[in-house]
Amino acid sequence: MTTFDLNAGATAPLADEADLTDLAVDGTLPPGLDGVLVRNGPNPLRGRFEGNDVLSWWPQPAMLHAIDFRDGRASGYRNRWARTRIWAREYAPQAVAALPDTNPNVNVLRHAGEILALAEGGAPLAMTPALEFLGASRRHPGLAGGMTAHPKVDPETGELMSFRAHWEPPWLRYGVTDADGRQRVDQRIEVPGPSMMHDMAITARYSILLDLNVAYDFSMLSRGYRMPLRWHDERPSRLGVIARHGGPVRWFEVAPCFILHVVNAYEADASTLVLDVVRYPEYLRLARHGTGFEDNPLGVLWRYEIDLDAGRVAGRALDDAGIELPRINEGRTGRAYRYGYAVEQPNNREMRGVVRYDLESGARQHYRVPPGDQNSEPVFVPRPGGRAEDDGWVLACVYRQASDTSDVVVLDARDLAAGPLATVRLPRRIPAGFHGAWLPREAGGG
Ligand SMILES: [Fe+2]
Repeated sequence: MTTFDLNAGATAPLADEADLTDLAVDGTLPPGLDGVLVRNGPNPLRGRFEGNDVLSWWPQPAMLHAIDFRDGRASGYRNRWARTRIWAREYAPQAVAALPDTNPNVNVLRHAGEILALAEGGAPLAMTPALEFLGASRRHPGLAGGMTAHPKVDPETGELMSFRAHWEPPWLRYGVTDADGRQRVDQRIEVPGPSMMHDMAITARYSILLDLNVAYDFSMLSRGYRMPLRWHDERPSRLGVIARHGGPVRWFEVAPCFILHVVNAYEADASTLVLDVVRYPEYLRLARHGTGFEDNPLGVLWRYEIDLDAGRVAGRALDDAGIELPRINEGRTGRAYRYGYAVEQPNNREMRGVVRYDLESGARQHYRVPPGDQNSEPVFVPRPGGRAEDDGWVLACVYRQASDTSDVVVLDARDLAAGPLATVRLPRRIPAGFHGAWLPREAGGG
């Protein structure tokens, strides 16, 4: 298995919290860019990883980074560890009992008037755009025990669709929370065993759950693995289609695979669901020698078409290039859409470059990042008042190896290849992490 030095370069964690103002900017920031870019990820409390595989990286304490844009300026940067029990045991022992026992290090989402830091299966943590932590979410009581880091918000109804995949029974729950934060659906879903489910999809009328070939194997714990998940050849991969507000699940078997992230899904007609994902033909296969994993093949953009009438699924690659961390204009979530953005993965060691897919014409655009540097997920920011799907900007954090600092690039979403409209130059790095969100100022202050 490829080993990383997680304590060097783009993944090297931070050992402190900082507040910076009036950041240096090259180029011209669009005045309409008014809000906060928040990025989440794992960062060990003392600023040093103990091991060097991905499972030493994923479960570490949440650290959030916020870059504030206003009046054509990059007015501030701040980073904070999430205020949880894990954090308090190290930095504020007297506060341990008062803080939530969760580690929301994966994603950030605004819903029903709350901004939530989201965990892989743990409880969401409420926060402000200025990274003040408000404790456990009070608006999602039914999900308090834990939920996916990738719930989906319907852009028209404001409903939030979510699931909880757990290693203890019940292994899978599906839920819907309305636009006011009240849980409307909480349904137990029968599956043969607990599997790794990271993301889900919605259409206007359905939700799609992913029960794939990566599942739990608790015998791994006694063999030195810290997370008991691996590829299982004998499992079927299945896509589960459930009516939005609950009911029986229709499972559709597909070729063995793993899907970490959904791009989007929609209803092409009354009986056809389109589901676009980043698909791996194999993922977390145990190494033939030693106690690691084989290198994962790269994930590629893949389209499933689910024929509800015929009970069939067809799948095909839309591209052969390695990508991850796909994003769209979230105003199109669950609806027909044309554009997707993703990090390029030239190999297993690098997340370097941003690609834009035009799924109608097949055209691709690239924002190139030089070897040695790496970048995070491209977050699409709609232009205020804009109507076209690609009218806006793409924001990404780019780690610069030579200076050990990070830039935040602002790209024209219609012309990635032209290079940044503006580059915010931070005097320190934002380590590689998971997901982020754009929090427009008008919707929540800060
Ligand atoms: Fe994710």
